[in-house]
Amino acid sequence: MISKEIQENLKNASWIRRMFVEGSKLREQFGAENVYDYSIGNPYFEPPKSVVEKLRSLVNSDEKGTHRYMDNAGYKDVRQKVANAINRDIKNPISYEHVLMTVGAAGGINVVLRTILDAGDEVVIFAPYFAEYVFYIGNHNGVPKIIQTDASTFEPDLSAFESSINEKTRAVIINTPNNPTGVIYSEKTLNGLQAILLKKEETYGREIYVISDEPYKALVYDGHKVPNVHNYFKHSIMVNSYSKSLGLAGERIGYIAINGQFSDVDLFMSGLAFSNRTLGFVNAPALWQKVISDSLEESVDIGQYQERRDLLYRALTKMGFEMVEPQGAFYLFPKALESDDVKFVMEAKKFNILLVPGSGFGFPGYFRISYCVDLQMIERSIKAFEALVDYYKEKEA
Ligand SMILES: Cc1ncc(COP(=O)(O)O)c(C=O)c1O
Repeated sequence: MISKEIQENLKNASWIRRMFVEGSKLREQFGAENVYDYSIGNPYFEPPKSVVEKLRSLVNSDEKGTHRYMDNAGYKDVRQKVANAINRDIKNPISYEHVLMTVGAAGGINVVLRTILDAGDEVVIFAPYFAEYVFYIGNHNGVPKIIQTDASTFEPDLSAFESSINEKTRAVIINTPNNPTGVIYSEKTLNGLQAILLKKEETYGREIYVISDEPYKALVYDGHKVPNVHNYFKHSIMVNSYSKSLGLAGERIGYIAINGQFSDVDLFMSGLAFSNRTLGFVNAPALWQKVISDSLEESVDIGQYQERRDLLYRALTKMGFEMVEPQGAFYLFPKALESDDVKFVMEAKKFNILLVPGSGFGFPGYFRISYCVDLQMIERSIKAFEALVDYYKEKEA
């Protein structure tokens, strides 16, 4: 029999997965071209040419030892290249000694939490949040502490954040550009978080780590820039992956990069390497470390994502949907047309539109649209959205 905890978790099956399954059923019933599936955040575009070419050349190479175990932190030369890329806009440069290659950002977050949490330690997350955080924190006997954001900006409520911190707080997870809102936290927010953390670290006499989950860092629009967290916080830990930026979600490759100002770099990195090993990852995939090493600062065509964002954002706001214009990632997070977001999503399903309720991200009353989809599907879906809005107007009349 499986454990009680997993039984409990299975009862709260992910909304994203649930809607994805609904999508398959609807496609069978109505035909794929008549279903508008906005449920899952699976990168739509193929990896850049340079990545595919490097993969081909490595597969065809006769170099010996390419498939062996290595240092649990990954290849030194690849880690140095990652550090060089991070150092482009940093005040205190880092080196390979601060970088550990991971099995995606999901693997990276688990390795960090395993390394820093004692049982009962609290980790602050901001709603709406990536639903998996709650499970990742639970995996390592931590306790999630959920703080709301202001729905007019989706930036953290700083006074609520300040009051949430206590002697058990070990970390805060930030995710910018954000899934599900697409918002990039402003410098003002980062400065505000920094001031609070400095004060609280002094009060409680221990580090409060900022885990910056950044898989969408390269996916930004209109010339926006994502600030380098290492310039704001002393105890920051970047976690990133190439799942979205290079379209490699299934290959599972990413990294952790700690702040150069840590006072215990060697001990901390040894802790991360130990956790990477004993969680069973051992090391990040050898081949994929090499594949990405020359394409770290490339990305899939952002313009094509922006085209999708513009089309949907404009069409939906014209229809009366309220939302914050996303600056990055590939999600929209509009207000539902009724207060019960789950009911709203079920109504949308009747129009063959598949959405994810905000409740799945700890933020009821809203819903998520994942627009990493075929452009023609978006175009075809506009009429269905219009019919959904008309349905609500008639209901209200
Ligand atoms: C906010 C956020 N963090 C982490 C992940 C996990 O990414 P990876 O594929 O790198 O493990 C995702 C994936 O969708 C995500 O949206």
